[in-house]
Amino acid sequence: MQELCLLCWAVLLGLGQACPEPCSCGEKYGFQIADCAYRDLEAVPPGFPANVTTLSLSANWLPSLPEGAFREVPLLQSLWLAHNKIRMVAAGALASLGHLKSLDLSHNLLSDFAWSNLHSLSALQLLKMDSNELTFIPRDAFRSLHALRSLQLNHNRLYTLAEGTFTPLTALSHLQINNNPFECNCGIIWFKTWALTTAVSIPEQDNVTCTSPPVLKGTPLNRLLPLPCSAPLVQLTYQPSQDGAELRPGFVLALHCDVEGQPPPQLHWHIQTPEGTVKITSPNVDADGHALPAALAASSQPRFRAFANGSLLISNFGKLEEGTYSCLATNELGSAESSVNVALATPGEGGDDMLGRRFHGKAAEGKGCYTVDNEVQPSGPEDNVVIIYLSRTGGLDTAVAGEGVSGQQPPGLLLLGQSLLLLFSTSF
Ligand SMILES: *[C@@H]1O[C@H](CO)[C@@H](O)[C@H](O)[C@H]1NC(C)=O
Ligand SMILES: *[C@@H]1O[C@H](CO)[C@@H](O)[C@H](O)[C@H]1NC(C)=O
Ligand SMILES: *[C@@H]1O[C@H](CO)[C@@H](O)[C@H](O)[C@H]1NC(C)=O
Repeated sequence: MQELCLLCWAVLLGLGQACPEPCSCGEKYGFQIADCAYRDLEAVPPGFPANVTTLSLSANWLPSLPEGAFREVPLLQSLWLAHNKIRMVAAGALASLGHLKSLDLSHNLLSDFAWSNLHSLSALQLLKMDSNELTFIPRDAFRSLHALRSLQLNHNRLYTLAEGTFTPLTALSHLQINNNPFECNCGIIWFKTWALTTAVSIPEQDNVTCTSPPVLKGTPLNRLLPLPCSAPLVQLTYQPSQDGAELRPGFVLALHCDVEGQPPPQLHWHIQTPEGTVKITSPNVDADGHALPAALAASSQPRFRAFANGSLLISNFGKLEEGTYSCLATNELGSAESSVNVALATPGEGGDDMLGRRFHGKAAEGKGCYTVDNEVQPSGPEDNVVIIYLSRTGGLDTAVAGEGVSGQQPPGLLLLGQSLLLLFSTSF
């Protein structure tokens, strides 16, 4: 039998069919097979017949798969790459393989895998990526694998799974994901529920366990108790409010980002000023307002002081601090953002805010308070709020509105459901 096969390969070779020198190529059961296993190869050799359907490169020394690595063999149905030293698979390395049904990348050193490669493998039925060093799978990695039946991701370094990762795999019947160092927090709790209800078989569930937090180390995911989890909610408020406040030039503007969420979200501030965007990981100062070690490198006294309690204080608020202030809260379940748009103006004059909308201040009864005509109230916590600070001294470079604006509703305001609040100052 073996001799027969050798003979048939000899015949094929005799016909002058191409085959890379270290490999053997032949036909078996109607498949065109190229066998390059155990050849000490350090790269995919060139020179395959274009009709190869099965290619084995198992047990070599391949360090990576570059773009277009299999361009010569677009008809491949099976590709065996197990037991190499592959660390990196470039974008476009597998993209030409629209007929591929089986792909084995197991027992490599993969940590850097261009998941976009999978988007073109819509015929894939078997995907083995077990025994690698994968830490993370993007949520949409498997979006095109509608024919996939078996997926092996066990013995990697996956610490979390994005909710919905397996949803596109409508043909999946076998998922192996044991022996990964999962962090058992709110981000992964969905998997327990999914695993309990899915028809997909998930073997070795006792080895699908938590590695952290320490109290849960070794606990199988399917025995996790419900955790209190909620996605972030943010609401941005500010001081001083417009209620009768008398502001002087150089006042401290205080924004406060009220954050809810479990686990407690990480807070970031993004500030777009005329000079560019400033990104701050909160906090950057301690409770006394002194710069924290991480922020010290940038400056001993941060211009924007972000406190751990969610407050952002800007001293000597002036023209250079005008802009859009956003607080972003992120935890394992998602993120939320709230913004406020802060502009300066002069009493009795109008101007443009950061979004180019015109406004006009006028004197109200009594205390010389300024307010905009037809003030709109914010309709919900998500609404951006525009604060206008009226400064008698800071008016020089403030755009001046024409008289005709008086009494008109700024057109964008109602549509956007935003509120225009006017603060005023007294100068001494
Ligand atoms: C592949 O091409 C060779 C000639 O290059 C031919 O002899 C062989 O039959 C083909 N195999 C398949 C499976 O089509
Ligand atoms: C489960 O994991 C442990 C620890 O890694 C290992 O010793 C054991 O063989 C695994 N069981 C199976 C069935 O893989
Ligand atoms: C947050 O802390 C700062 C500094 O201690 C304080 O000035 C500010 O008022 C606090 N914010 C709130 C909302 O309590």
